[in-house]
Amino acid sequence: MIVLGIETSCDETSCAVVDDEFRILSNSTYSQLEHSKYGGIVPEVASRQQIKKIVPIFRDCMEQAAMTIDAVDAVAVTCGPGLIGSLLVGVNFAKGISFATGKPLIGINHLEGHIYSNILSHPGLRPPFISLIISGGHTQLLSVEDYCRYKLLGETRDDAAGEAYDKVAKLLGLGYPGGDMIDKHAREGNSKFVRFPRAAVRGDPYAFSFSGLKTSVALHVNDKPASYVQDHLADICASFQEALVDSLVDRCLLAQSELSLGDIAVSGGVSANSRLRDVLQAESKRLGFRVYFPPLLLCTDNAAMIAAAGIVRLQRGESSDLSLDASAQLRLA
Ligand code: KG4
Ligand code: ZN
Repeated sequence: MIVLGIETSCDETSCAVVDDEFRILSNSTYSQLEHSKYGGIVPEVASRQQIKKIVPIFRDCMEQAAMTIDAVDAVAVTCGPGLIGSLLVGVNFAKGISFATGKPLIGINHLEGHIYSNILSHPGLRPPFISLIISGGHTQLLSVEDYCRYKLLGETRDDAAGEAYDKVAKLLGLGYPGGDMIDKHAREGNSKFVRFPRAAVRGDPYAFSFSGLKTSVALHVNDKPASYVQDHLADICASFQEALVDSLVDRCLLAQSELSLGDIAVSGGVSANSRLRDVLQAESKRLGFRVYFPPLLLCTDNAAMIAAAGIVRLQRGESSDLSLDASAQLRLA
């Protein structure tokens, strides 16, 4: 089975072709640069860019795979969660292909796609396992009990992990999105320079909260001269990152010890973070479990992960009809 994946949930336009051995035959992605000048994603701009890019990216994807649509068996498309205007571009494009060719269509939850970015890249990773999804819009810890069976352990009560990175980056004048810039500066800094708070939610040990951390960084720099941030940029980045990574690792290790699921798979844009990778890898060696991260290309939004999730659902006999709708708040569990 060969599946065309389509992903347009936010500010990436991506098309990919994946086969049922999880080989990526092509994966073409456009990341919108238009938002950096606004310091955050402008939904109206995002959906207009999706409309402009979907056809060229689809053409590029088919060219890279050296095939025509005739060789594809089905179409998988992200139908939520995400920005509704962006989602609708992909969903309607996928419905158009399905209608014109008669090929089956399957709507995929974007977060399930992120889980498949790891299953796709690591033949050794099979359910059950613990999944940490950390992106610009989401922070969720789940148990993946079987294919397509998820249980939510905890999620953020306020900002997503990537959102905290982006807001702190903006505060420090590092541009948008700023997660990778903070990661880069933090490598040169002293993570013990400031001890920023690690928030816990009473009665909900798996919940995350990052807005207090972001506010603490703001309070720390706001009453200092501009030269202070310049002089201590790497130390502030390292201290902020240490607090955030600590919170993520803490919940992962709790789940690992309390549930007998064994391994941990981390995905989403923040899973590219070098400090998180180092700490979780060291903990996995110390405690004797395996930790998985996607290759950097599959950390951020891409259609290969959507196609992979589509293959598994289609193989189970599932499909969507042409009334498939996009849902901005679609839940996974
Ligand atoms: O998964 P993604 O591409 O988009 C969403 O679905 O949100 O994630 C984007 C997020 C941004 O917040 C970005 O700052 C963050 O991932 N990010 C990082 C790193 N690279 C990207 N955060 C921390 N460290 C990184 N190296
Ligand atoms: Zn995402």
